[in-house]
Amino acid sequence: MTTVPLGIPRRLLEFTLDGEQVRAPEGSTLLDACRAAGKDVPTLCQGDTLAPKNACRVCIVEVEGARTLAPACSRRAEPGMEVRTDTERVRHSRKVVLELLASSVDLSTTPHVADWLKEYEAKPDRFGPDAARVDEEPRVDNDLYVRDYDKCILCYKCVDACGDQWQNSFAISVAGRGFDARIAVEHDAPLTDSACVYCGNCVEVCPTGALSFKSEFDMRAAGTWDASAQTETTTVCAYCGVGCNLTLHVQDNEIVKVTSPHDNPVTHGNLCIKGRFGYQHVQNRD
Ligand code: SF4
Ligand code: SF4
Ligand code: FES
Repeated sequence: MTTVPLGIPRRLLEFTLDGEQVRAPEGSTLLDACRAAGKDVPTLCQGDTLAPKNACRVCIVEVEGARTLAPACSRRAEPGMEVRTDTERVRHSRKVVLELLASSVDLSTTPHVADWLKEYEAKPDRFGPDAARVDEEPRVDNDLYVRDYDKCILCYKCVDACGDQWQNSFAISVAGRGFDARIAVEHDAPLTDSACVYCGNCVEVCPTGALSFKSEFDMRAAGTWDASAQTETTTVCAYCGVGCNLTLHVQDNEIVKVTSPHDNPVTHGNLCIKGRFGYQHVQNRD
C-alpha cells in the first residue's frame, strides 16, 4: 500500500482580523492569515521559498497593544491577537515606504506597484528629481541574465537564494554601507569572473526585475516584450533524472524565459543552468 506523507496536523489559533474572528494553523504568519481571508496586503521582500527578511516593511499591519507596527510576512499569529490591516497608521506607513522606494529606485517593472501607489496616494515625486539611489547602466556581462541595479530595492532575496538558503554558491552579497549599500559579486567584478554558476535562482526570486533574463531585457529594450501575449506551460526538464519542473514562458512561438513552480516539494522553484537557460536547441529551427 502506498502511504502519502502528510504534514503534521497543526492546532488552529483563533484571533481577530479587521474585526472578524478568524482561525489559522499554528505557525502561520499574519500574511498567511490575511491571504487566506482574501485580504490584499502588499509585499516586496517576502518570498514564498525564503525565510522572511523584513527588509521592505510594505506589509506592515497594526497589532492591538503593540508599540510598533508589525511586518505581516514574518509576525506569527497568536491566539487572541487583534490585528488591523487598513488603519490610518498602516496606510500612512505603507504610503511613505512606497514613496521612499519609488523615489529612489526604478519600480517600472515591479508587479502591482503602480496600483499600490494609487491605492495609498503615494507621491514619490515630492522627494525631488535627484533622489535616485543608484544611477548606472544595466550590467550586461554575460548571455544569460542582466543585472540592472537601478531597479534594486535591496531586499536580499537574491543573496539568500544564492547563499545558504538554496544554491550555496555565495556568489553575491551586499557591499558598501548606508546609501552606498548595493548587491555585488566579490570585488564588484563582472559576473563571469565570480563564483556564479548561472542557476538563475536569484532571477527567480527577484521581485523588481533588477535581475532578468537577457532575452527579456533585450525584448523590453526593443519594445516587443508582451507578458499578456505569453503562455506558460509547465513540463519536466529532460536533461537529467532529477526531473525538475520547468515553466516555459512562450511568446510568438519562442521560449522567452523559464521559471519553476515554487510549490514543487523537491526543487522549490530552483533549477540549474541547464534547466533554466539551456532551451535554445528547442527552437533552433535552422
Ligand atoms: S545565478 Fe545562481 S550562482 Fe549565480 S548569482 Fe544567481 S543564484 Fe548565485
Ligand atoms: S537584485 Fe532583486 S532580489 Fe536582489 S536585492 Fe535587488 S531587488 Fe532584491
Ligand atoms: S514583505 Fe514584509 S517586510 Fe517586506
